[in-house]
Amino acid sequence: MKNTSDLLRRLQRLMPAGVQPRFTTAEELLAWQQEEGRKRSVEVEKLNNKVRAEKIFGRSGIQNLHRNCTFKNYEVKGDGQRHALSLAKSYAMNFGNGFTSFVFSGSPGTGKNHLAAAIGNYLLAQNRSVLIVTVADLMLRVRACYDGGQSESALLDELDRVDLLVLDEVGIQKGSQHEKVLLNQIVDRRLAAMKPVGVLTNLNYDELAATLGERVVDRLKMDKGIWVNFTWGSFRSQVRNSQPYRQ
Ligand SMILES: Nc1ncnc2c1ncn2[C@@H]1O[C@H](COP(=O)(O)OP(=O)(O)O)[C@@H](O)[C@H]1O
Ligand SMILES: [Mg+2]
Repeated sequence: MKNTSDLLRRLQRLMPAGVQPRFTTAEELLAWQQEEGRKRSVEVEKLNNKVRAEKIFGRSGIQNLHRNCTFKNYEVKGDGQRHALSLAKSYAMNFGNGFTSFVFSGSPGTGKNHLAAAIGNYLLAQNRSVLIVTVADLMLRVRACYDGGQSESALLDELDRVDLLVLDEVGIQKGSQHEKVLLNQIVDRRLAAMKPVGVLTNLNYDELAATLGERVVDRLKMDKGIWVNFTWGSFRSQVRNSQPYRQ
């Protein structure tokens, strides 16, 4: 307390006349310092979460194309979409209780990325770290590790750290054996660390099991894991079809 009293006395000497001191006792100054320190460390933690995804891929966790996707601007036409929206919403609201994973399966343009980005944007607003990345981008990043003479383990560590990792376009390209091993490893490590994974895919259950490994897909179901089939048509063709015919 002596140092704090000294500091306060020195501050009082420096203060121009007429300025009302913010602290009149050493205790008040100490309490203020502690509170500022606490606020600062909360801010640093938030910042760390934000930059975590940026550090890995040199971009924000959600690509520009899907930056504005929310639950609000997801249009519902039919029970399937209503169900998908409600599951995605409750996934976001309950995030952090357990480590529930999700799989959104369906053909291109059906809104898998839209709902995954809506979940991601919701979590980012709560200062969680989120990374949505295509398997192709992930493989490029892994190759960059090799080219730079680094092992992939630092990358895997970073992928373990984000609060939500969403693997996009799983199964779009026919992956090499190495790709399968790596994906298997990424999902396996996260689930072992009780961290959730989202998977966006055009594959059905059996095909996904063949790609990620039966055991890993089984583990995605743990802790009330969610599987949603996006069975409707592409959003763009729906929009086009609903436009009045013009010559
Ligand atoms: N139900 C929907 N309501 C509003 N926009 C949608 C809906 N479904 C898809 N979209 C939009 O259509 C585009 C393609 O959807 P996307 O989520 O990328 O499809 P997928 O990932 O299934 O291929 C995106 O711009 C997305 O925001
Ligand atoms: Mg997509």
